[in-house]
Amino acid sequence: MDKKIHIFDTTLRDGEQVPGCQLNTIEKIEIARQLEKLGVDIIEAGFPISSPGDFNSVVEISKTVEKPVVCALTRAVDKDIEVAADSLKFAKRKRIHTGIGTSEFHIKNKLKSNREDILKRAVAAVKLSRKFVDDVEFYAEDAGRTENEYLARVIEAVIKAGATVVNIPDTTGYCLPGEYGEKIAFLVNNVPNIDKAVISTHCHNDLGMATANTLAGIISGARQVEVTINGIGERAGNTSLEEVVMALKSHHSLDYETGIDTKQIMKTSKLVSTLMRMPVQPNKAIVGRNAFAHSSGIHQDGVLKDRQNYEIIDPADVGVRESAIVLTARSGRAALKHRLQILGYEFGNDELEDVYSRFLDLADRKKDIGDEDLEILAGREKKGKPPIELVSLQVMCGKSTIPTATVQVSFKGDVFTETASGNGPIDASFTAVKNLVKRRVRLEEFLIQAITRGSDDLGKVHVQIEHKGDNYYGFSAHTDIVTASVEAFLDAIGKIS
Ligand code: KIV
Ligand code: ZN
Repeated sequence: MDKKIHIFDTTLRDGEQVPGCQLNTIEKIEIARQLEKLGVDIIEAGFPISSPGDFNSVVEISKTVEKPVVCALTRAVDKDIEVAADSLKFAKRKRIHTGIGTSEFHIKNKLKSNREDILKRAVAAVKLSRKFVDDVEFYAEDAGRTENEYLARVIEAVIKAGATVVNIPDTTGYCLPGEYGEKIAFLVNNVPNIDKAVISTHCHNDLGMATANTLAGIISGARQVEVTINGIGERAGNTSLEEVVMALKSHHSLDYETGIDTKQIMKTSKLVSTLMRMPVQPNKAIVGRNAFAHSSGIHQDGVLKDRQNYEIIDPADVGVRESAIVLTARSGRAALKHRLQILGYEFGNDELEDVYSRFLDLADRKKDIGDEDLEILAGREKKGKPPIELVSLQVMCGKSTIPTATVQVSFKGDVFTETASGNGPIDASFTAVKNLVKRRVRLEEFLIQAITRGSDDLGKVHVQIEHKGDNYYGFSAHTDIVTASVEAFLDAIGKIS
């Protein structure tokens, strides 16, 4: 029996449907590249008919990745399928993912139709998709609440029409693990041509069952799993890639394999969290900040005696560096260079000098500098000088004070100054910046996150602004969150061409 589980990553499609987490094409390409390094088999790159941005992202991701299959989502609608096929034209390996609702809720209340009509539409969508590509996946939306006999009829018909993968989504996250596993087993045992297609799981986490349901599906015969990094997705999210992969890796008795390079898991999790501006909950399995932290004395003692006393996963297996080395203001260039090399950054002498001077500046404000701080410093160096730079910032705020900010920025060698007031120091500073740059920009999202802990921590700020219908993203990190906020705002404004 085939023990290979294909990993279908839908971070860039189902994951990206989370309100406020939209990515631009460049960010999607960066994530797609990292997903390729991680070793996913299929990347669902978007829903091309939904917007020109989504269409373009599928085109660009198709041009970028070599190994994974690039997949585009459609409804069972001719125009959707034609547009998806067009968006995939540059993909080395391509798949159209089409489908329709099959539960009574969807058939009657959403689609205002009946079972026979839905079956015909499902077959027609697969046949049309097969005219464009050889690899067609069919999803039976809300399969979790679809009666098994009808589901089996639909699945048999779409496989006959040419579907190579059949996706059984628990769209509403309603199923219990036993129930979902039995549904997959029912299809294995009652669809005569099931051996002609791969069965895929697609579980949502509304009852916190997504990972358990996915594993139940695998045990019953599914050989593809649809997952997202950090389990992001609509409502309570989708099945998390890292949980399924590490559950399979940790339980040798299950005897399944994936092509995932698990050492890339943490890096991928951080990239997705940063670009989507979606913090990972500290106690999240595998990738949460506390996932490998032992705080009680008894546990610490036990781990020191033998890691396996309290750890079922070696942190190094998911790319968590065991001992985060801490640098301080007394650390020299050689120590900094050495640590940066371990983190994967190579700098020439001049660049290193710049990073070192910013390192000393940060070390003066924050006692201990950890790997995450270094990644921010190194990342900023690699990005180069921003087009609009913050020269100085003075804010006045506090109880019974009208918050006022004076902002000085340099642009193309000239320095401009502006003062404004607002309902707080950040509002005042942003108003001053808006008056300075004389562009109509609207702040769409604003997120401040501490990197590690402690009141002396670096604050990371992500902003999303809108200008003439387009979105621009900005990022900065600083121990002063007002400074970080203004720099992130300027970073986003600087991207407007
Ligand atoms: O949850 C779901 O049913 C989906 C389909 C579009 C595959 O995301
Ligand atoms: Zn979904």
